[in-house]
Amino acid sequence: MADQISVEVMDRVLSIRMDRPEKKNALTRTMYIAMTDALRQAEANAAVRAILITGTADCFTAGNDLVDFANAAPGESSPAIAFLQTLAAAEKPVVAAVNGTAIGIGTTMLLHCDLVYAASSARFQLPFVNLGLCPEAASSFILPRMMGHHRAAELLFLGAPFGAGTARELGIVNEVYADRDLLAEAKSKAAQLAEKPPTALRITKALLKHTTAGAKAEAMEREAKQFLMLLQGPEAREAMTAFMQRRKPDFSNF
Ligand code: COA
Repeated sequence: MADQISVEVMDRVLSIRMDRPEKKNALTRTMYIAMTDALRQAEANAAVRAILITGTADCFTAGNDLVDFANAAPGESSPAIAFLQTLAAAEKPVVAAVNGTAIGIGTTMLLHCDLVYAASSARFQLPFVNLGLCPEAASSFILPRMMGHHRAAELLFLGAPFGAGTARELGIVNEVYADRDLLAEAKSKAAQLAEKPPTALRITKALLKHTTAGAKAEAMEREAKQFLMLLQGPEAREAMTAFMQRRKPDFSNF
């Protein structure tokens, strides 16, 4: 299972690849645990100077595995939250190469990366409400500050997919590259970071994040409470069942 996350260290960059293409790289509990371990490994290894996160083929990740969501036991500790907390607290710079579909946590994890590059065919989506859920990863705090309430509300309420150009205009993405160039460009940025003086870079990152770190952690906690409550509720059950039955959900009775 852990091989659904490939990790390699090359030229002082630790790369984490979400690698479950047959399920559009949907993230299971095991995959979150492997990604969290990889982040911790990167932080602990002085030879690693930067972290790169990417996916495979046409997918970054289709978000949390919806079967895992449907089977989540109440009160169970969430490896997804542990992953997000570890990513948000990472001291080393994190680069994301969004090579394709980035849904749910596929988009929200980007809010905790430092440099985000996208392929021109990448598609983003925050479908939490459509799934009977609410925002996670402190996105309810970060998105309105990044793009204003109206645009954040549109992304979160309607949950429609949007393209790489829009993601760049909204500030989620630094730069958009042709699909075939994306990985090389993102690797080149990570390589540039790996050559910088590491302490200066780490302190610069800490200073950038200092004023909002506490509020983001609080937002994540606030969201997690509501998210777990909604996940056990009838709206999410209908949405997950509809996905598995490949039909449109019906919320008219709620
Ligand atoms: N969880 C579990 N399985 C998923 C998944 C997810 N989040 N996303 C895709 N898959 C699975 C599909 O069930 C399908 O499995 P199957 O071949 O065994 O039936 C396989 O991945 C391919 O997906 P499919 O829907 O056939 O591909 P597509 O190209 O038509 O659509 C997506 C791709 C990503 C747009 C679509 O699968 C989708 O909307 N997925 C759900 C995204 C989502 O809501 N994520 C949760 C965010 S909180």
